Amino acid sequence: MQNAFDTAYMPELRTPRLRLRKLAMRDAADIYRYGRDPEVARHVLWDAYRSVGEARSYLRYMLRKYRAREPASWGIEYAQTGEIIGTIGFMWIQSDNASAEVGYSLGRDYWNRGLMTEALRAVIDFGFGRMNLNRIEAQHETDNPASGAVMRKCGMCREGTLRQRLYNKGRYVDVDLYAILRSDYRAARK
Ligand SMILES: CC(C)(COP(=O)(O)OP(=O)(O)OC[C@H]1O[C@@H](n2cnc3c(N)ncnc32)[C@H](O)[C@@H]1OP(=O)(O)O)[C@@H](O)C(=O)NCCC(=O)NCCS
Repeated sequence: MQNAFDTAYMPELRTPRLRLRKLAMRDAADIYRYGRDPEVARHVLWDAYRSVGEARSYLRYMLRKYRAREPASWGIEYAQTGEIIGTIGFMWIQSDNASAEVGYSLGRDYWNRGLMTEALRAVIDFGFGRMNLNRIEAQHETDNPASGAVMRKCGMCREGTLRQRLYNKGRYVDVDLYAILRSDYRAARK
């Protein structure tokens, strides 16, 4: 497969309520506002930020990825206010297999409004429509069922539980693996 990002690297994606766009250093305060919340960080592989400086370090890391055109995250901007309320993006992309893994997080004030479902749908549309992927995966800690609900609402199928797959925040955790294939995506659109 052609390198997944050769044709389009992280273009802006629009949904009814969101703008997915590349992050910038000016987003540090927004990222810190939600990323300092231990509830947001509970089931992800980063620790809640202890300072705005840590949010800046994350942004510098993301900007390096953009420069190198590596798999990276979009900022999730709430269109009405222009605030960055979360991130979503590719953890890895395997060109040989035309597959990729998506990961995401959202500030607690915005949970349960269908926003991550809206964002994930946009990224899946981009993955199949523009990146020519064949398989998009996502995984969530088994005791984080809201994330599984998002994946199912986006047409992903649960493929199994990977027992004690991760060591996160002091414990081994089971992980549910989900995926959507290009054929599933096409069939659902017919
Ligand atoms: C998981 C997360 C992304 C969900 O985002 P969201 O915008 O709230 O998701 P949506 O509103 O689109 O959908 C949430 C679904 O989970 C359901 N849900 C919420 N809490 C739940 C719970 N404790 N048990 C089961 N389902 C739950 C909601 O009812 C909703 O499903 P429905 O539309 O069928 O009713 C968000 O909570 C988050 O960012 N959490 C912190 C970071 C994180 O865990 N990231 C994912 C790592 S894999």
